[in-house]
Amino acid sequence: MTIHSFFILPDYRAYGLGRHAMRLAEALAVEEPYGSPNCRAIALTGLSKRYIYDDAPEWRGIWPRLGMEVPSFSIQEWYEKLGYVSWKEEPLYEETALDGEVIPLVEAFMKKRVQ
Ligand SMILES: CC(C)(COP(=O)(O)OP(=O)(O)OC[C@H]1O[C@@H](n2cnc3c(N)ncnc32)[C@H](O)[C@@H]1OP(=O)(O)O)[C@@H](O)C(=O)NCCC(=O)NCCS
Repeated sequence: MTIHSFFILPDYRAYGLGRHAMRLAEALAVEEPYGSPNCRAIALTGLSKRYIYDDAPEWRGIWPRLGMEVPSFSIQEWYEKLGYVSWKEEPLYEETALDGEVIPLVEAFMKKRVQ
């Protein structure tokens, strides 16, 4: 199974709902009717943690160029805490900086075995 988009509404973040929803999705992935007993793993992508920890202009340096604060935590690490393992990193999305420059965003491709 792949999870393509996963967001918690801002007012409801940091109450444990995201973690709970992911655990539910993992349980449903291996059961009919939403999932399948043949499902072996969940795959997803999350923004690379280098955008938090690497001081280079093309990593942590993108946030002021986008007019944004540096995020308070890394989504890649958030998934790591849930047991997801990164297997490659690649540019997947783009954002437009305040000066009009297009910035490619590198996503970590992650997966977790569910059975
Ligand atoms: C990432 C997201 C789905 C997490 O859902 P959530 O309900 O806010 O997260 P939870 O409350 O379940 O998170 C639990 C853990 O995440 C971390 N965490 C969550 N919010 C945090 C914050 N604002 N600052 C620091 N750590 C945070 C904590 O380590 C927490 O662990 P703890 O309870 O042991 O301290 C949600 O914040 C979100 O929608 N973010 C923006 C969109 C996004 O980046 N989506 C992913 C696209 S791939």
